[in-house]
Amino acid sequence: MNEITEFIRNRRSVVIRNLTNQPVPQADLDLIIDCGIRVPDHAVLAPWRVVVILPAQACHLGTTILAPEFKRLNPDATEAMLTFEEGRFTRTGAVIAVLSCPQQHPKIPVWEMQLSAGAVCQNLLSSALALNYGAQWVTEWYAYNDKLLRALGGNPETDKFAGFIYIGTKNEDPKERRRPDKKDVVSYYTA
Ligand SMILES: Cc1cc2nc3c(=O)[nH]c(=O)nc-3n(C[C@H](O)[C@H](O)[C@H](O)COP(=O)(O)O)c2cc1C
Repeated sequence: MNEITEFIRNRRSVVIRNLTNQPVPQADLDLIIDCGIRVPDHAVLAPWRVVVILPAQACHLGTTILAPEFKRLNPDATEAMLTFEEGRFTRTGAVIAVLSCPQQHPKIPVWEMQLSAGAVCQNLLSSALALNYGAQWVTEWYAYNDKLLRALGGNPETDKFAGFIYIGTKNEDPKERRRPDKKDVVSYYTA
């Protein structure tokens, strides 16, 4: 075991409610993003896009898209719920949206391009945690909202959100979560 495997074996997400919205310094964001987009990517297609949402701009998305869309989908939503939606992206110092944007390619299946977008999410998450931020990969309801997808540069015909990585300083360290037992999910092939 070395410090990298030790980190990977023990890393743990921090739920959004235990994060603060203190700004994340630009140098840290740059490093997290550099690490985030260094992923396996068959044929170097870069079939993903990364959109950083900082608290100052986040309110605009909240008031123009999240709250109205939430209200459309949930006509009985209370004022408190709508206020929460307005501020949803302001909960942490940064939110990084990862869009899977597969291309038509004669050899590389779309599935492989989508997997590469998942790898971007995991790398963003791990590098934020490695810098001692708390971070969480979520989809929540708006990952399936075409209006938001369009607003963040995606094409609903082809693209999907792979996830939103929320990053912030931690209010408290996470407790361990139940993990799958290796014997239930791993086997060694025998001929
Ligand atoms: C694609 C994807 C979407 C997820 N969406 C949510 C979500 O919307 N809400 C949530 O509470 N957890 C969601 N999770 C789960 C957590 O972010 C995370 O997997 C869990 O807290 C444990 O992470 P850890 O292994 O890093 O500790 C999602 C995970 C993945 C992979």
